[in-house]
Amino acid sequence: MNPLRSLILAAAGNEVIRQVVSATPGSRDLVRRFVAGETGDDAVAAVRELAASGLHATLDHLGEDVHGRAHAEKNVQANLRMLDRLHSEGLSGRVEVSVKLSSLGLRLGEKLALDNAWRVCAAAEQCATTVTLDMEDHTTTDATLRVLAELRHTWPSTGGVLQAYLRRTEDDAAALAAEGARVRLCKGAYAEPVNVAFDHAHAVDRSYVRCANTLLAGRGYPMFATHDPRLVEIVGERARWYGREPGSYEFQMLYGIRPEEQLRLATNGETVRIYVPYGDQWYGYLMRRLAERPANTAFFLRALASR
Ligand code: FDA
Repeated sequence: MNPLRSLILAAAGNEVIRQVVSATPGSRDLVRRFVAGETGDDAVAAVRELAASGLHATLDHLGEDVHGRAHAEKNVQANLRMLDRLHSEGLSGRVEVSVKLSSLGLRLGEKLALDNAWRVCAAAEQCATTVTLDMEDHTTTDATLRVLAELRHTWPSTGGVLQAYLRRTEDDAAALAAEGARVRLCKGAYAEPVNVAFDHAHAVDRSYVRCANTLLAGRGYPMFATHDPRLVEIVGERARWYGREPGSYEFQMLYGIRPEEQLRLATNGETVRIYVPYGDQWYGYLMRRLAERPANTAFFLRALASR
């Protein structure tokens, strides 16, 4: 992995650097590019704007790695409030929620995370929408897939995420390509050791295509999360080759990244869902977005140099 990328991802877990970055003039401007805002109102406004352009959304109430049950409960309540609101404002047909199990207490115990995710899924069903479990670093993959399997017994439409950079993911894709399964395929955004993850971009891309083929050949509903123009084109071609109609799979992109491409795909009849983060716990999310693109890192280096 590019050393700068590793450095930024390592900084994503560092409290001192979090404080430096948060206090750096200009950080708010950068945050606004990738995050809809700090409040539920900001998130709903962003979703309305996307919906007006024919785009779908998945809302992420930002927060990860909670350190106590009370904090996990706060995150559950934020998701429940948002689901209620989407329903009452008639938006739940176009919008679902994405949750990170770490924000629901995974590091405090798998049972706690399952119970909390259960409550979010139950509320989502009441509100006629769905939940997707984001995937975090590889130390959480098995637990996240176990929780997903449990949730799917009751809510089969609960979505999961697979990361093409993990060497195990082809097998996971084959296991998940079942009837009705909603599976988001992304490249993967965390710093991972080479024994578990491919180190070179080309190897990750090749893995992405292999996993995409597996998901498209299966009977589930694949969700292709990438901004990579080559992968978008290959997935589109492969979808046609497998006889997939638009609406039997979707593309997903992040809020603020390649917005023209989001609209182009939607205009061409593809289902396109935008991942919309909101809330004040934006630091970890922002660092992963900075690490993805060298051009974004000038800001980060300025922040470090100012100390
Ligand atoms: P790549 O990084 O090669 O980018 C391709 C092109 O897209 C770049 O050349 C640039 O033009 C543009 N681009 C990409 N990232 C950019 C950025 N930050 N700023 C500006 N331009 C950028 N990961 C994870 O580990 N777990 C998860 O649950 C999710 N969930 C998720 C949902 C959705 C909807 C998306 C789109 C992505 C995720 N990810 C994720 C993140 C994912 O793993 C990956 O890190 C990013 O999508 C970047 O990879 P790309 O496939 O876009 O390719």
